[in-house]
Order: sequence, then C-alpha cells, then structure tokens
Amino acid sequence: MSSITQHYQPNETLWQKIEDTLTQSDIDPDTQLNSNLLAPIDQLHIGGRQATQALLHQVDLKAGCHILEIGSGLGGTARLITETLPCHITAIDITPDFCEAHQAINQRMSLNNIQVICADACDAQVQTGSQDVIISQHTLINIPDKTTLLKTLADSLKPGGSFLLHEVIAGSNKEPIKLPVPWASDISHSHLPDKDELIALFASAGFRLERFTDVTETALTWRKKHTQREAGNNQQGSTQAASPLNPGIIFGERFLTMGKNVMANLADNKVSVVEAVFVRSENP
Ligand SMILES: C[S@@+](CC[C@H](N)C(=O)[O-])C[C@H]1O[C@@H](n2cnc3c(N)ncnc32)[C@H](O)[C@@H]1O
Repeated sequence: MSSITQHYQPNETLWQKIEDTLTQSDIDPDTQLNSNLLAPIDQLHIGGRQATQALLHQVDLKAGCHILEIGSGLGGTARLITETLPCHITAIDITPDFCEAHQAINQRMSLNNIQVICADACDAQVQTGSQDVIISQHTLINIPDKTTLLKTLADSLKPGGSFLLHEVIAGSNKEPIKLPVPWASDISHSHLPDKDELIALFASAGFRLERFTDVTETALTWRKKHTQREAGNNQQGSTQAASPLNPGIIFGERFLTMGKNVMANLADNKVSVVEAVFVRSENP
C-alpha cells in the first residue's frame, strides 16, 4: 500500500463505519442516504459543497457529456453532477477504501452512470481523447509528478475540452506548513506548486489558462466556521451539524488538529485555495 493510500486509509472498514454510524442514528443506509448526510465526508476539500457548486458553474456541462474526475474520494462531486445532468462519469481514485465506499453509496442511491476505477491517475488507462471535461479537487496536492499526470490527462481530453481545477497551492509565505492537514500526515504527501509553477505545468502539458480565481478568503471563512463547529460551538442551520457523519470517521481524532492547521496555514498565507479553468489546446 502506498504511503498516500495509508494516509487516507488507516484501516479498511470505512464503508462499515459509515453504515454503523448511520444505523446508530436510526438512519437506514440502504434507503435513506442523501447528499446532506454525506456532505461532511464526501466533500473532502476546503469549502465543502458550495465550493464544488462554484467550480461546476465555471463551464456549461452538457447532457450526455463524458467527465473524468481524478481523486474522486467518496464521490460527492460525481453524485452532485448526476443529480441534475444525465452524463457519463469516470471517477478515479488511488485509495481502495474510498473507491469501495463510493461504489457502495452509488449502489444504495441507485446511481449507475458513474464508473469508479481504483488506480493511480498518473497511469489512468482512459481512452485517448474521449473526455469532454476533467475535474480535480484537492488531488494534485498529493501527486509529486504533475508533468506525467497532466500529459496523461491531456491525452484523455478532447481538443478544446476543459479541465476544472479546485486546488490548494503554495502561498506567499514560504515557511513550512503546519502538519498534519487533511491531505498530508507529513511533508512527503504534500506537493504544492505556487501559482506561476502551476500555470507553467499546465502550459507544458498543452493546456491554455482560461480563468483563474483566488478563493482563499472564502476558504478561510468556511474553515473558521467549521473549526468552531468541530470544537463544539455548533452553528444553527449547518447541514453538516445535521449529519451524524464527520471527517473523523476517515481521519480519527487527528482531524481536529488537521482542521486547525488548515486554518492557520490559510491565515498565515502559507497556502492559498484557487479555482481555475484550463482548456486543452487544439494542437498540443
Ligand atoms: C483531499 S482528497 C479529495 C477527495 C475529493 N476530490 C473531494 O474533494 O472530496 C484527495 C484524494 O486524492 C486521491 N489521490 C491521491 N493521489 C492520487 C493519485 N495518484 N491518483 C488518484 N487519486 C489520488 C486520494 O485517495 C483522495 O481521495
């Protein structure tokens, strides 16, 4: 098992834990699963579901389109898309336990247009030129060889196709980040380019930058609110507070420290959160 897989999969019982937690709260996992219940664990990035919705609004996704998501986690983004759009999604993730839970959830929710593949996105065997859109949220951070990754992904995208990115990058403060964070137990898991390096990596793989938005302020506000909630100061009306599921199911007690560290890293400008749209050149 790779080191990054161990970070996300400290034990092999995630789906069982999800089922047990729901059952203990009198929620039937076979019939009552929904996106509100799952959001605390299937939107495993800074900004939660609002951030995903903002990202998806960046392009006009068409019915019948083919979407490749890399680092799909428990599948929240893929399901959010299929709630409103008939399309074909290929969801790739390297962590077996996440893929198993993703598939189990889709099955319980009777969703059959998401194909889940457990693989390293750098070796993804996706048919060349078959995808209209690629989506990645907080996954490039875990991948040291972004040159290989982006070349593989450029090959799988149709010319003119879009790459939607929601990512953590290095901020202006070059001091070491506080660890652990949800994407890294130690520094060997965290690979953060700065803005210029990120754009150069995409350019050398044949992608043109169409839009780039720094969403760090929004991300920090969201993280502060959730750190307060996790410390026991619940906010009325939060969908996450209404669910018995929380990221501690994945990360254990260290999630409290992870959340605080993300907040400090954002506040100290050690990391930024960005949304970007890249377009695959017609002649890469
Ligand atoms: C921070 S989580 C984000 C999950 C999901 N994108 C979300 O926002 O809910 C990062 C994900 O990337 C996956 N990942 C890391 N390295 C990967 C690789 N080389 N290939 C495929 N998936 C990878 C991890 O297993 C994990 O599910």
